[in-house]
Amino acid sequence: MPAESGSNRRPETGAFFQRDRTWHPPALTPGYKSSVLRSPQKALLSFDNTLSEIAGPVFGHAMLGELDADLIYNFAKPGESAIGERIIVHGRVLDERGVGVPGVLIEFWQANAGGRYRHKKDGYLAPLDPNFGGCGRTITGQDGGYAFRTVKPGPYPWPNGPNDWRPAHIHFSVFGHGFAQRLITQMYFEGDPLIWKCPIVRGIADKAAIEALTASLDTQATIPMDALAYKFDIVLRGRRSSVFENRLEGN
Ligand SMILES: [Fe+2]
Repeated sequence: MPAESGSNRRPETGAFFQRDRTWHPPALTPGYKSSVLRSPQKALLSFDNTLSEIAGPVFGHAMLGELDADLIYNFAKPGESAIGERIIVHGRVLDERGVGVPGVLIEFWQANAGGRYRHKKDGYLAPLDPNFGGCGRTITGQDGGYAFRTVKPGPYPWPNGPNDWRPAHIHFSVFGHGFAQRLITQMYFEGDPLIWKCPIVRGIADKAAIEALTASLDTQATIPMDALAYKFDIVLRGRRSSVFENRLEGN
């Protein structure tokens, strides 16, 4: 949808692909310890959406700050920059037919290059980077495309099993055209051996679904002597839907 016009995107005319629920990890995955307490113990109830959930907001590029899509500089002191491997992350937000979805607000947050979040509850011994905040946002263009610049996040240990490490990852929130349309997922990096050892990732039974959450190194988009590039498409629904943490049961 062109955010400027406020009109809706082109009508859905293709076949509707029912979501394959076996694609999504079960809510109860005992290897991922906190899922034991978090998973529903009773049958789910379904409520209709209220008007405030369906209506608005409309995001426009005017609401974005100049450095919102540049985590290397958006928290840095003047003349300084974040420490780490400089990368560009780019891709498209696609519907079930592979058509780009414009006007989608994408927010992203991540640990710094040492694997430490700027959060009071993160006590990992890796140091904070005074020039790295770790979050940003952008809005998809007419073709559903987006891009931002950051440093590659480090892996970090987490209190699950005795020695569990999260692979390097970036968290994504994708905000559609109603307050009930927020989807959340994580992006991993091609070639990271920790992906296949992570209990959260292993909650996803389908290897292809995990691979779809793994950004590929994109040498075409690399900036020589400056930044590597990774390509990550987000598919909102259908057979090739990305796995979303907050929609484990399907829509
Ligand atoms: Fe994380």
